Amino acid sequence: MTNIADFVAALPKAELHLHIEGTLEPELMFTIAERNGVPLPYASVEELRAAYEFSNLQDFLDIYYAGANALIEGRDFYDLTWAYLERVHAQNVRHVEIFFDPQTHTERGVPFAVVVDGIGRALDDAEAGLGISSRLIMCFLRHLDEAEALETLDAAMACRDRIAGVGLDSSERGNPPGKFREVFRRARAAGFTAVAHAGEEGPPDYVWEALNVLEVARIDHGNRALEDPDLVAELARRRVPLTVCPLSNLKLCVVDDITAHPLKRMLDLGLFVTVNSDDPAYFGGYVNENYIAVAEALGLSRAELAQLARNSFEASLLDTDAKSALIAELDATVAAAQEKICNFSAN
Ligand code: HPA
Ligand code: ZN
Repeated sequence: MTNIADFVAALPKAELHLHIEGTLEPELMFTIAERNGVPLPYASVEELRAAYEFSNLQDFLDIYYAGANALIEGRDFYDLTWAYLERVHAQNVRHVEIFFDPQTHTERGVPFAVVVDGIGRALDDAEAGLGISSRLIMCFLRHLDEAEALETLDAAMACRDRIAGVGLDSSERGNPPGKFREVFRRARAAGFTAVAHAGEEGPPDYVWEALNVLEVARIDHGNRALEDPDLVAELARRRVPLTVCPLSNLKLCVVDDITAHPLKRMLDLGLFVTVNSDDPAYFGGYVNENYIAVAEALGLSRAELAQLARNSFEASLLDTDAKSALIAELDATVAAAQEKICNFSAN
């Protein structure tokens, strides 16, 4: 009989909440920083990893932005993205929707097109060589003002074909979604899908604003929505996907303990939840480790794990045919695993 880890590993799945800058493993950070002559504030890989103890989102962001400073050339963005894609290929990830933070790079003089071209070439190679499809979503940094986000949207128009959506990330507290009303309105008018981080540390009102002011198609995180029963009812009624990130929530102290994670409650409330890794190089696990952590801590059934994988395809930006093909593969995998269990029981 397959154990839970093998079952999770066998499931075809999509990852919908992943910051590419958050996949920069310490070893690659040192390699890239060295070849670019960028000094790092840590003497070794071990010292850097030892700094990954965070008490909140801002603690993490300070280190995450410092690490991103190593990225300068197109090949840095290629190598970063390719390393992530190879890892998740081994985890049976079939589709990825990747966030990047253009302002983190353009602020340092790295051209927008260099970033998008480096990431984009890796995505093309993954489609051809690994069978992983993808979409790219650019996030506005919410600690900056809307005028800078509008400039970023203008810069993105030169790479319009490469970018499917816009998102909102960085320091949530004190930076409500409504601050970005106009830039999201223009982005939606230009055909970008809108998503936003909300309810990670911010209150339920930020989730309402993301829905009603930014008109997002998905909420990234959304944990604190559970504090407002009317909001839960609305999310369920509208079937808004929530891209939940269990190990991120643990590392950033959004939950005190993984056994207190709300994912099971979210499922029981009928919310359209998915499981994702957020910034795996910093939070101690890629997507499969996130599934396994909640499966073990919350006692999720195989049917619930399969539902999470199904949700990941249904909540994606793929077209209907591509979704159906991947869900058919998922169903076949689940049926084969079930048969193994039955044969085992019968013998
Ligand atoms: N929240 C907000 N901003 C981020 C995150 C996150 O989890 N990861 C990278 N930028
Ligand atoms: Zn995130």
